[in-house]
Amino acid sequence: MRGSILSICALVSATYASHVLLPRTPSTPLYGNASATNLFSCAAASWPQSDVGVPLTPQPVDSELAGLLSEIDPARIEAYIAKLVSFGTRHTLSAQNSTTRGIGAARDWIAQEMRSFAATSEGRMTVSVPGYIQGLEARVPFPVLISNVVARIEGSTDPSRVYVISGHYDSRASDPNDYTSDAPGANDDASGVAVVLEIARILATRQPKATILLGAVAGEEQGLYGSNFWAQTLRNASVNVEGVLNNDIVGSSTGDRGQRDPYTIRVFAQGLPPTESAARRAQRLTIGGENDSPARQLARFSVEVAANNATGMNIAIIYRLDRYLRGGDHRSFLEAGYSAVRYTEPNEDYAHQHQDVRVENGTQYGDLIEFVDFEYVARVAKVNLATLWSIANAPGQVRNATVNATLLSNDSQFSWLRSNDTDIEGYEVVWRPTAAPLWTHVVDVGLVSTVTLPLSKDNVIFGIRSRGRNGYRSPAVLPFPG
Ligand SMILES: *[C@@H]1O[C@H](CO)[C@@H](O)[C@H](O)[C@H]1NC(C)=O
Ligand SMILES: *[C@@H]1O[C@H](CO)[C@@H](O)[C@H](O)[C@H]1NC(C)=O
Ligand SMILES: *[C@@H]1O[C@H](CO)[C@@H](O)[C@H](O)[C@H]1NC(C)=O
Ligand SMILES: *[C@@H]1O[C@H](CO)[C@@H](O)[C@H](O)[C@H]1NC(C)=O
Ligand SMILES: *[C@@H]1O[C@H](CO)[C@@H](O)[C@H](O)[C@H]1NC(C)=O
Ligand SMILES: *[C@@H]1O[C@H](CO)[C@@H](O)[C@H](O)[C@H]1NC(C)=O
Ligand SMILES: *[C@@H]1O[C@H](CO)[C@@H](O)[C@H](O)[C@H]1NC(C)=O
Ligand SMILES: *[C@@H]1O[C@H](CO)[C@@H](O)[C@H](O)[C@H]1NC(C)=O
Ligand SMILES: *[C@@H]1O[C@H](CO)[C@@H](O)[C@H](O)[C@H]1NC(C)=O
Ligand SMILES: [Zn+2]
Repeated sequence: MRGSILSICALVSATYASHVLLPRTPSTPLYGNASATNLFSCAAASWPQSDVGVPLTPQPVDSELAGLLSEIDPARIEAYIAKLVSFGTRHTLSAQNSTTRGIGAARDWIAQEMRSFAATSEGRMTVSVPGYIQGLEARVPFPVLISNVVARIEGSTDPSRVYVISGHYDSRASDPNDYTSDAPGANDDASGVAVVLEIARILATRQPKATILLGAVAGEEQGLYGSNFWAQTLRNASVNVEGVLNNDIVGSSTGDRGQRDPYTIRVFAQGLPPTESAARRAQRLTIGGENDSPARQLARFSVEVAANNATGMNIAIIYRLDRYLRGGDHRSFLEAGYSAVRYTEPNEDYAHQHQDVRVENGTQYGDLIEFVDFEYVARVAKVNLATLWSIANAPGQVRNATVNATLLSNDSQFSWLRSNDTDIEGYEVVWRPTAAPLWTHVVDVGLVSTVTLPLSKDNVIFGIRSRGRNGYRSPAVLPFPG
């Protein structure tokens, strides 16, 4: 099927319009708009024309996933956030011996909620509170117990393949070491914890193929301590974590100029993986693979499965680790060698982050619950749930994908390890023009472990993925010269 310039252009521009952050009002439709602006993007991105494969369309939302998404409840999200705010401060250095104030009370309440969900799981969900004593550091003036609350849903067919979703339950005031003042942390990051809790509640009664870990971590504001402990624990145990979704500041759709974008969530995805060997990095740069790290593939995957009418959201991929002067828990997982991304609201208001609660010069400062949009958080939870459910029910990512680069050739030959997963229906090669952000074409190549396509690897980026009998696809992987 040879697409005309116009049809490929329309596809690419629709993709741009729905997934790249454009100035928009809430009434702008979620799907494409082939305006002159978008066609301009298309002119740069749609070369080469090729009849290899068919245009790639967003993955459909099946009725089971649609049902799960409809269970997400903004009223419950509001209740979780209100409860977390009620602990006054959740600073990592605050009291751990009170049932009403401080991080200990917050930890125990989160664990109790998780256990109440686990009680509905017929034994598939278990809850633990792993912790360690963090010694002195710049933002740790005395040794402190840092605890994470982690719920684990055992995978039904691939229990050793693991996905992680996280938010941090600690909070802070203006002074990072002030552990007595109120620090409501409604957006940063009770919103992320609320996403994790609501998804834990819904998934407790379900049976994904792969294992899912849902965690609320501490110590983020003092130096990513809880997530680092978690990521290093998984790494040390050689756990096969194939994706991490971190949610941090996902609570407000209104920026500090009053701008509103309630139908967009940013996903931050780093380029070069920080733990890659020097040889691998050199090879990646040689083949133009710097935009195809596992984290970027995870972000693309999220767009394919979760930017749709079922979530009501657009997903704006941001090609960087994080915002300027800010960090987050996905970094701990990246530094442990895992693929991790961060979801964050599109327009931040710094008067409502890391600020003592006060009115100054007529402006209300502080991370107060009145600035949280619960319907927005619910849509962000839908993006997370659609991504998590789709990835955990897809086959695992394709292993040892290689491209044959031994001789000059205008064909492209790929090989990979055929998985022994009997749920795999077949493999797919996806490709896109090198300047396009998302995969534009797919070739169904069947149940094979090698294929040669009449399209030059010099002109496009290729990825290999597997398709389950249930229709779910794994995130694509970049083939390296074998
Ligand atoms: C398409 O985009 C253009 C330019 O951004 C805008 O003026 C127009 O209203 C949009 N059309 C629709 C149907 O959204
Ligand atoms: C609770 O812990 C704080 C330190 O976080 C300590 O100052 C206080 O004395 C403790 N209270 C009780 C009743 O143990
Ligand atoms: C991971 O292993 C390293 C090296 O053995 C060790 O120093 C570190 O404490 C371990 N971390 C965790 C969280 O288990
Ligand atoms: C999404 O919803 C809009 C508005 O209701 C509709 O026009 C569009 O066709 C829908 N798209 C899909 C893929 O269902
Ligand atoms: C409030 O106004 C005073 C006087 O103009 C100024 O010094 C101070 O920085 C202002 N505070 C903030 C948070 O902008
Ligand atoms: C697959 O790749 C891994 C590491 O990248 C390597 O250790 C292993 O030997 C490879 N397996 C085969 C069959 O090539
Ligand atoms: C790579 O391609 C060349 C021809 O272009 C072929 O001779 C060689 O056998 C291929 N290597 C593999 C491992 O298939
Ligand atoms: C390039 O492709 C053409 C057409 O398929 C073929 O005839 C030619 O031999 C190829 N050149 C090389 C170097 O493989
Ligand atoms: C499939 O392969 C994995 C290792 O890649 C192995 O652990 C597992 O036992 C195999 N399963 C079957 C059914 O052969
Ligand atoms: Zn945060």
